[in-house]
Amino acid sequence: MKTVDTLLVVGLGLIGGSFAAAVKSAGACRQVYGYDLNKASLEEAEALGIIDCGFENLSEGVAAADVIMLAVPMLAMRPVLEQISPYLLGGRAAQKVVTDAGSSKKALLDAALETFGEIPAWLVPGHPIAGSEKSGVGAAKATLFQAHDVILTPLKHTDDLALEKVKMLWEACGAVVTSMDPYHHDEVLAKTSHLPHFLAFSLVDTLAGNPDNQDIFRFAAGGFRDFTRIAGSDPIMWHDVALGNNQAVLEALDEFTEGLQVLRKAIIQKDSQSLLGIFSRAQSARQHFSSLLESRKQRVKPLPDTAMVHSVFSGSVLVEGEDTKQEVMESMKESSQTFIASPGGSISGELRVPGDKSISHRSIMLGALAEGETVVEGFLEGEDALATLKAFRDMGVQIDGPYLGKVTIQGVGIHGLKQPEGPLYLGNAGTAMRLMAGLMAAQSFDVTLTGDHSLSGRPMNRVVDPLGQMGATIETSEGGRPPLKIKGGAQLKGIEYHLPMASAQVQSCLLLAGMYADGETVTVAPGIVRDHTNRMLNGFGYPVSVSGENGCRVAIKGGGKLTATRIDVPSDVSSAAFFMVAASIAEGSEVRLSHVGMNPTRSGVVEILQLMGADITLENESVVGGEPVADLVVRSAQLKGIDIPERLVPIAIDEFPVLFVAAACAEGRTLLTGARELRVKESDRIQAMADGLIALGIDAQPLPDGMMINGSGNTPSERKGEPVFNGGTIDSHGDHRIAMSFAVAALRAKDDIRILNCANVATSFPDFAGLANRAGMRIVVTEGLEDGSC
Ligand code: S3P
Repeated sequence: MKTVDTLLVVGLGLIGGSFAAAVKSAGACRQVYGYDLNKASLEEAEALGIIDCGFENLSEGVAAADVIMLAVPMLAMRPVLEQISPYLLGGRAAQKVVTDAGSSKKALLDAALETFGEIPAWLVPGHPIAGSEKSGVGAAKATLFQAHDVILTPLKHTDDLALEKVKMLWEACGAVVTSMDPYHHDEVLAKTSHLPHFLAFSLVDTLAGNPDNQDIFRFAAGGFRDFTRIAGSDPIMWHDVALGNNQAVLEALDEFTEGLQVLRKAIIQKDSQSLLGIFSRAQSARQHFSSLLESRKQRVKPLPDTAMVHSVFSGSVLVEGEDTKQEVMESMKESSQTFIASPGGSISGELRVPGDKSISHRSIMLGALAEGETVVEGFLEGEDALATLKAFRDMGVQIDGPYLGKVTIQGVGIHGLKQPEGPLYLGNAGTAMRLMAGLMAAQSFDVTLTGDHSLSGRPMNRVVDPLGQMGATIETSEGGRPPLKIKGGAQLKGIEYHLPMASAQVQSCLLLAGMYADGETVTVAPGIVRDHTNRMLNGFGYPVSVSGENGCRVAIKGGGKLTATRIDVPSDVSSAAFFMVAASIAEGSEVRLSHVGMNPTRSGVVEILQLMGADITLENESVVGGEPVADLVVRSAQLKGIDIPERLVPIAIDEFPVLFVAAACAEGRTLLTGARELRVKESDRIQAMADGLIALGIDAQPLPDGMMINGSGNTPSERKGEPVFNGGTIDSHGDHRIAMSFAVAALRAKDDIRILNCANVATSFPDFAGLANRAGMRIVVTEGLEDGSC
């Protein structure tokens, strides 16, 4: 492991001060020295214990240090480099290392070139992506870089040892270090950091010059406050950024100005379609961005407990243990949501749950590859389907919406996708990753598919292996996990593939790849699997042949084309299932669930509940866009335990978490077998549900491929509707369906059920709590880590 004995931080502002404090707190150097032109800052840094010793003379400080961090404004880089250049060679054995924290790497490299006539190998340019609108050493905090990116931009000839030392220091600060080309860094930062700062400064300046400014500032609400927070930043620093990174900043400003002109024109012309297009595209991109951030935060390990924090950070007046832990917890809080479901109650009313997730994913994929304009109504505005939508936008497809469930896709044709600029991030969405693997394997360009923490742990060999047999080249992480690096340019060939498991995702993946393959691709599933892909392919005019027992043999020939169509997405039966169980177990309930998808390859939950004695009737049955739909009227009923027929398992695969809740309220034993697949869903749903049920006092026994539950609802009729669950706290493990299932359980609980890690409910059922509360449940959603969950 590389070590650094002495560090000098030049410039003790927010960034320099925080770096010194973090390195010192982590004990990553024997001595941390500081230098600042401003004597008061130096003294303050010493008094706060951020540095071990301050130097009033810069050259003395440089002479004493092994590593020198330049945390000065960008235009000061050159004079500082000139001043220190005579002292840079190591007096002792090793060459000194110089690094910086400036936000334009070109500016630093130009300054180095002018000073040294070349870019020295011991110069390691760097830039932490962290900050605050506060400035000065007094605002420094040792936690500023915790879980934040730091970009290092070494050149080809940069010394490896120098790079290692700088990396080690940043990692000791808790940062995530990545490397990038310096010029690319400047372009990216111009758009993501510099442009928003300049817009905020400019907006405040413009409004401050307005004669009504008193009223404007007095009544400015959250929007103005949020948008302009960063205009409180250090003017000198941003002056230097504007001049130092001028070229990339001007390009970003021009691009933005163009976008603004389009918006202006749409307002003048009262062009609602363009306005809604801009706003809804931006809204979904922003939501996607938030979920990306969330998933990153979930991967950050929590800090050690309080006692450890005290010892890690001891010796610094600035960063006391409790406060430090608090700060880091605060930064992770946003990633977590807790549901507190109050006990008892009943549900009623007419409810329409959001659109079907499986169909929404497929509508974007086929709509994007079709010729012409596809209009989708009832699209699920959940994070999973939005991740698919964003991925196709990233491949050059113009998609407007979603706006109130309507999405308009300008199809690019089967060969019209463009290479995305970076990896396609698919969040929590296993369906998106597995289906898209099939499509991407047939494109002319390379592409990488990534996902969140849960998706990154899910098995992908089930699609990678057969795609390999078709001629695709796909690299995975260890154990066949994402990311998937898919090589472009392969000419796929049709195969006959017998699926080892009843998986619609695998079957669909191969059918989509089969559109591009030579000859025929035949898939044979070992049981009934959802058939939305075949139905939708037919709807887009692409012939698919279905044969065999229960339609398990599906074949497609390559070389066809898709013709745009209209798609009406029914409500998701998997989402409706929570209310079917809720109404069944809560005394005095009656709900009508409208326009629910009743595709026979999905409706196993209705059959299982009916076998258990549920009172469910189907009304207004019809077929919309090739998919059967119905209204379901569900009334409370005394349920009884059953042995769930294995033939129903694949067609109710996503509903078992909530069916386990029904089983706990039923009279007698319920046995599920043949459902090993539940172990590799968004979580291990057998274990997660068994742990939760047992914690709430239920006699549940997990099996390798299912669960045995002795229902507590075996009470005499006068005790009908009595609580069967104790109150308590359970962890959903970030699995949306586990979270919603335990919220339903609260209807028959003695006390509150607190469900941790519920943010992912938004992947399939945005505003679940809102709809549930309107129906009569009582769920409070709190943001944050109340119980120290991970
Ligand atoms: C899905 C198929 C199912 C299901 C998933 C969605 C689909 O997975 O669990 O939520 O849209 O094709 P498997 O095909 O892996 O069983």
